[in-house]
Amino acid sequence: MVALLLLFLTIPAVFGKDVKCPEGFHHFKRTPTVKNNHTKDWCLGVFEAERLDERDRARSICANHDATLSLPENQKESDFIAAFSNKHNISDPHAADGETNPSCAAGVYENMKENIEITSAHVRGECNLKNNYFLFDDANTDPAFVFGKFSYPAPNRFHRYTETDRPTIYHFAQCLVYNTRLIPRNWTSPGDADTSFCVGRPIGKNWDQEHDFAYDQIKVESVICGRHPL
Ligand SMILES: *[C@@H]1O[C@H](CO)[C@@H](O)[C@H](O)[C@H]1NC(C)=O
Ligand SMILES: *[C@@H]1O[C@H](CO)[C@@H](O)[C@H](O)[C@H]1NC(C)=O
Ligand SMILES: *[C@@H]1O[C@H](CO)[C@@H](O)[C@H](O)[C@H]1NC(C)=O
Repeated sequence: MVALLLLFLTIPAVFGKDVKCPEGFHHFKRTPTVKNNHTKDWCLGVFEAERLDERDRARSICANHDATLSLPENQKESDFIAAFSNKHNISDPHAADGETNPSCAAGVYENMKENIEITSAHVRGECNLKNNYFLFDDANTDPAFVFGKFSYPAPNRFHRYTETDRPTIYHFAQCLVYNTRLIPRNWTSPGDADTSFCVGRPIGKNWDQEHDFAYDQIKVESVICGRHPL
């Protein structure tokens, strides 16, 4: 009896705390670093809803799950998102954490005005991709893995609206999206980071030439959310 009791007492010590995520989330062990706020355990989930190209809708879906927008931090987490995408037949990108720093966006507009093409991969200082070009809701994920997945580093999808005797209005894709599917017979996927407009596709609005660019943008109907375990 004493031996049995001792056995039960030692099991938690051997196997550690039982980490649990809420339904819809999957638990991942992470290597704690300064860049991910020393996170050892993280719960990731992908949730489907309509019109998640509108950033506030995507953000709200995560809030409903007591989570924030999040990102995969390594290939294993990315492959979980790929497997979910395959299972649910999602081929469009997922809304993911990361929105262009407003002061960097101002710099992009200035360059658009001068017709100068810039890329955050080469810009020096604060607005470099690896510095603070993007701002994140989730402090517990190191974005370096996803930064390595950009085929075309931000900024992208420039749009300029001009009308006689009116100021020129600049738009570009400012919100991070992440796309991944498992390649059949090759249980892996490289994953692809990209950006989409944050405003969402106009719905039920009168035809608005200035926001024409948003009509045919990529559909986003799923979002990557993350949170601490229960
Ligand atoms: C998966 O999605 C594609 C394109 O979105 C569609 O053509 C196909 O019918 C879907 N397959 C299933 C099994 O739902
Ligand atoms: C960093 O992690 C600690 C411990 O989990 C948490 O209390 C804190 O809120 C986190 N910081 C941010 C900015 O999320
Ligand atoms: C599987 O995918 C990886 C990553 O894209 C690629 O390097 C590798 O060649 C692929 N293997 C096969 C057998 O297709």
